[in-house]
Amino acid sequence: MTEAIAEFLVSEPGAAVLGRGAKALTNAQDLPPELRAGALTILDGRERAHKRGWEEAGQLFLTADALAQASSTEIAAFHAKCFSECESVLDACCGVGRDALALAAAGKRVVAVDTDPARLVFARANAHVLGLEEKIRFVCADVTALEGESGHCEGAFFDPARRDGHTRFSADSERYQPPLSFLESLQERHKIVVAKLSPALHEDTLTSLGGQLLFLSEERTCKEACIVLGGEAGPARALLLPSGESYERGEEPFIADELGEYLLDPDPGVIRAGALGALADACQAALIAPTDMYLTAAEPSLRAAVRSYKIRVALPYRDRTLGRWLREQGIGRLVVKKRHYPKEPEAVHKELGLKWGGKGAEATLVIVAQGKSWLGIVCDPVN
Ligand SMILES: C[S@@+](CC[C@H](N)C(=O)[O-])C[C@H]1O[C@@H](n2cnc3c(N)ncnc32)[C@H](O)[C@@H]1O
Repeated sequence: MTEAIAEFLVSEPGAAVLGRGAKALTNAQDLPPELRAGALTILDGRERAHKRGWEEAGQLFLTADALAQASSTEIAAFHAKCFSECESVLDACCGVGRDALALAAAGKRVVAVDTDPARLVFARANAHVLGLEEKIRFVCADVTALEGESGHCEGAFFDPARRDGHTRFSADSERYQPPLSFLESLQERHKIVVAKLSPALHEDTLTSLGGQLLFLSEERTCKEACIVLGGEAGPARALLLPSGESYERGEEPFIADELGEYLLDPDPGVIRAGALGALADACQAALIAPTDMYLTAAEPSLRAAVRSYKIRVALPYRDRTLGRWLREQGIGRLVVKKRHYPKEPEAVHKELGLKWGGKGAEATLVIVAQGKSWLGIVCDPVN
């Protein structure tokens, strides 16, 4: 989107255009195509943001693309908390301002920089909507070439672009914009530096950066690898939001001698952080099989980091008795959970003699490796 279109959309006449709503705009013949497309993008962004639980979504200026890269409310608030020792923070790549706004809402003076002029127009308008514009100075520039005021901030937040219009390159830090190497320059100039990176980055890349490494997980998705430089550092950790549960990287969990009454499915952030041992200890659980990362325990757990399932039966997966057992129990539909079993759920139903999309009671089937074959664990969610 051009800066001119963005400027128009945040103006009063722009509000009138947006007020027509998506349905009317789709067929509007009286608007230039770029303006109509821009307005529809904002309305689409608002709808998506609303679904993501942003309270003020209906008034904010977000594009689907910028929103896809923006932090969630909880995660932006966590980033801001990392700067408790700082009064001023540089947001090196502010986008539409999700993190800059959270920093300002936490009482920081913010310098928010981005190369994209249209995103800056929206970020400024969003600050206005939230009454935070006094706290944020917006700068349209390449942050890697910026001298002066940005260096005067005590802290710096770095959230480089991990995609362009066509491709995502989350796991390739060489292609990040600005490149990951810029982190070093920020570290030289600022007391605390927080970087929001992809959890898909190679472990060696992440650990080579030093500092405290946190894997942030929300809604059972590992959303980011967050590096905090300049504060106290310990072993890598998983941090679950909004619960605040945290698990430290350590020893692998024990392998269970036998299945307990319950199967516990760990949060992906805990697995990514290498913190399954700590979670297993906390739940008095052990691994079912070394490769599949499912735990078993005598009791269910109320922790946010696991989903508990009451086990009904565990049978060799290929054995026809599993299919027969399911039919005898009147089970016609399965929620299939697996990490390594190669077939898709539809094929699993077929293999077990069940009709895909068929009728009957529902159960969860977890398929785990058992030596060179597979074990089918039929269970029901507890929480
Ligand atoms: C992942 S987004 C930031 C999202 C933001 N933290 C939020 O939550 O809304 C990355 C941003 O970096 C900007 N960018 C890329 N290269 C830059 C550079 N050299 N200087 C400043 N900004 C840059 C992009 O335009 C993009 O808006």
